[in-house]
Amino acid sequence: MTGQATKVATRVLRAGDAAIAEAARVLAAGGLVAFPTETVYGLGADASNGEAVARLYAAKGRPSFNPLIAHVPDLAAARALAKFPDAAARLAQAFWPGPLTLVLHKTPGCTVADLATAGLDTVAVRVPDHPVARQLLARLGRAVVAPSANRSGHVSPTTAAHVLADLDGRVDLIVDGGATPVGVESTIVACLDAPMLLRPGGLSRQAIEGALGRPLAGAPANAAADAPLAPGMLASHYAPRTPVRLDAEGVTAGEALLGFGPATARGADKAVKVLNLSARGSIIEAAANLFSYLRTLDGAGATAIAVMPIPHDDLGEAINDRLRRAAAPR
Ligand code: TXA
Ligand code: MG
Repeated sequence: MTGQATKVATRVLRAGDAAIAEAARVLAAGGLVAFPTETVYGLGADASNGEAVARLYAAKGRPSFNPLIAHVPDLAAARALAKFPDAAARLAQAFWPGPLTLVLHKTPGCTVADLATAGLDTVAVRVPDHPVARQLLARLGRAVVAPSANRSGHVSPTTAAHVLADLDGRVDLIVDGGATPVGVESTIVACLDAPMLLRPGGLSRQAIEGALGRPLAGAPANAAADAPLAPGMLASHYAPRTPVRLDAEGVTAGEALLGFGPATARGADKAVKVLNLSARGSIIEAAANLFSYLRTLDGAGATAIAVMPIPHDDLGEAINDRLRRAAAPR
């Protein structure tokens, strides 16, 4: 039993008060809701709910965990999640709500699930400018992580029909708000040190540079908006400092153990610390726990982190991909 992405009945509701109320209810309950933003349709999940985020990756069929954008209703809500240096505050003032995403350092109280940020210390935030998105975020009162509402490798959807074609049976609800006005994804700017363009998009480089009063570092101006730099170039991956040993059947003294499933690894009693990604063998639960458990075990003072075998089906592919990277010699 690995918790395969179960088939759900996908409902489509025309945008309006009833649809917004239902969308907020479904999100609060951990469900998946596709909704229009001014750029493209997003596939939303409650940003603070790790298992909902894991189901979102499963629904998209993502072979790896790209970090997601947290959507919030206003700058005040964004400040609860992320630290705003002066340049970021200036860009937010100038362009929010609108097609601009800022990558910033997390605040200590940031509620976005570790899986949604792929274990990074940074978080991408944006305030969308679409009445449906804004009403939904205001009604829910929580951040919503939302990648474009397409299957991994497909183009971003600009109508509810596109979303349905890709995600029917994989998401709970689609709010149909008509065609999205901008039609390309948001522009992504990292404000970690010098502001850097990570992905060109619906807001022009010139507009951003005008507001900043200086040029942006980064991605070439001719990069396509629907083909961002490889995630590995966008976001340096989180990796533990402790060596990682994969497919471990047993533990040796001094190691920490990252388990999966009901079976106990040989010598588990000798481990410095033991955590189980999912004792019931759910790959969804395992994905939700992956990055925070790696962090905890990384801090346990162990000689290595021994990881029990994890199935490769569904989200297991992405989990194993991340673990392989974590185990690669550096
Ligand atoms: O217009 C948009 O931005 C749409 C709508 C739905 O808001 N969303 C969207 O999300 O395009 P997605 O997941 O398809 O693209 C998000 C991009 C990814 O390339 C990801 O690597 C990058 O944002 N990203 C997210 N968090 C990051 C971080 N902490 N550091 C660097 N890149 C990050
Ligand atoms: Mg996308």
